[in-house]
Amino acid sequence: MQRPLMHDVMPLRTDLMSRARAVAKHVAPLAAETDRTEAYPWSSVEALRAAGLMGMTIPLEYGGLGASYFDAVCVIEELSKVCGATGRITVESNMGAIGAIMHYGTPAQKRLASSLVLAGDKPAICITEPEAGSAASEMTTRADRRGDAYVINGKKHWITGGGISKLHLIFARIFNEDGTHRGIGGFIVVSTQRGTPRGLIVGRREPAMGIRGIPETELIFDNLEVPVEMVLAASDEPERGFARLMEAYNAQRVGAAAVALGIAEGAFDLALAHVKERQQFGRPICEFQGLQWMLADMSIALSAAQALVYAAARSGSGEANFPDMLAAAHAKVLAADTAISVTNNALQLFGSAGYSRDRPLERMVRDARMFTISGGTARVLRTQIASRLLDRKLPQTRDGYAAL
Ligand code: FAD
Ligand code: COA
Repeated sequence: MQRPLMHDVMPLRTDLMSRARAVAKHVAPLAAETDRTEAYPWSSVEALRAAGLMGMTIPLEYGGLGASYFDAVCVIEELSKVCGATGRITVESNMGAIGAIMHYGTPAQKRLASSLVLAGDKPAICITEPEAGSAASEMTTRADRRGDAYVINGKKHWITGGGISKLHLIFARIFNEDGTHRGIGGFIVVSTQRGTPRGLIVGRREPAMGIRGIPETELIFDNLEVPVEMVLAASDEPERGFARLMEAYNAQRVGAAAVALGIAEGAFDLALAHVKERQQFGRPICEFQGLQWMLADMSIALSAAQALVYAAARSGSGEANFPDMLAAAHAKVLAADTAISVTNNALQLFGSAGYSRDRPLERMVRDARMFTISGGTARVLRTQIASRLLDRKLPQTRDGYAAL
């Protein structure tokens, strides 16, 4: 079956791609240092902010560029070729928490969140708990209604940007004043220049394997008070809060898939250049058929992953709807698996030079490793895909995805 040309379905904003390339040029020489020092790349963030790429998906009326998920994914892919950390920051400043708030939020919540992101804040989405990872719906963090506020108690871990992010979207189990349960909802909590609000404690930083420039930390809530106006997606249909928040999360999964894809493409480009240069047995190593077949398989895998990532991005149209769950899961599983295999093969094509920390290959292998774990593990996403298939809940009519 012929795949429709992506530009026929939704035109790519070329102005955004030239901004992305300019930022990538600025970021590329900083990527190794960011990895080595594990320091948050504020200079890259400033370049993203100045180019309008922090919050590019925020609607024009709130000061963003009104970019589609497809536009954002193409930008993220481009940036991730040179720096996975910058790619991930771009995801979290356009999807995830900010996407959920711009979709479900009140006008006041949208104004608050968009002003923070447009000023350069990468929001944090706080779902995972030590005892509730894949089984996120078993979270025990609770929000108890006390008059005009909720009081949050509990603990999250592996929160990307903990201690750096100002805007937090915290998932918690809601209880009414009489103790009855109202399902899971989102709570918007903002740190200020002066620090985190009372009751929001930044805990241990994880010594992460890859994407080391962004802290992954615990967040502890000790009687953290949140005014009722800061509750998201849980007011009218309490029992649907979690499902609605997870629906928004599909965009973040597609963004993560684009980072994985970009990292793999960056490694592939380096390997391709290297095999043409490197001589052994009196000729460039690209003349050996075994390596040619390796390159061909890497190229096929990248094209397949790219097609699914673009299709998933196109299945959602920004403000109007989020990417489809099945399309997002397909894209993330394939892009994550591809990122691991392609970066490993790229390192192999460099031989000992790939194994050296003087080159970016070993960093790319480490950076690529997270995508089968974070944001829903590859097995959990495969389970979601299978349960959709077995329930016959396939999205036959969704634009873009069903068209494939
Ligand atoms: P577990 O759920 O304990 O899973 C362990 C293993 O068992 C996995 O291989 C899993 O696939 C498998 N498994 C579990 N259940 C099943 C099942 N039903 N069927 C088959 N296999 C199963 N969380 C946030 O909330 N916010 C963040 O910003 C964030 N950022 C992250 C960044 C990084 C780099 C990482 C590594 C994690 C991040 N996380 C974040 C947490 C992430 O979402 C969880 O790690 C993930 O959901 C898996 O949970 P877990 O680590 O507890 O693994
Ligand atoms: N998109 C849209 N809806 C979703 C969804 C998604 N990605 N994931 C779950 N939902 C909906 C389900 O359709 C269901 O709605 P329904 O009640 O109308 O049927 C509801 O949310 C509960 O989902 P279900 O699969 O029944 O939940 P569960 O209690 O078995 O929990 C999950 C399983 C959703 C937690 C698990 O599949 C998962 O995604 N784990 C990974 C968590 C994660 O990504 N963490 C990232 C942190 S950054």
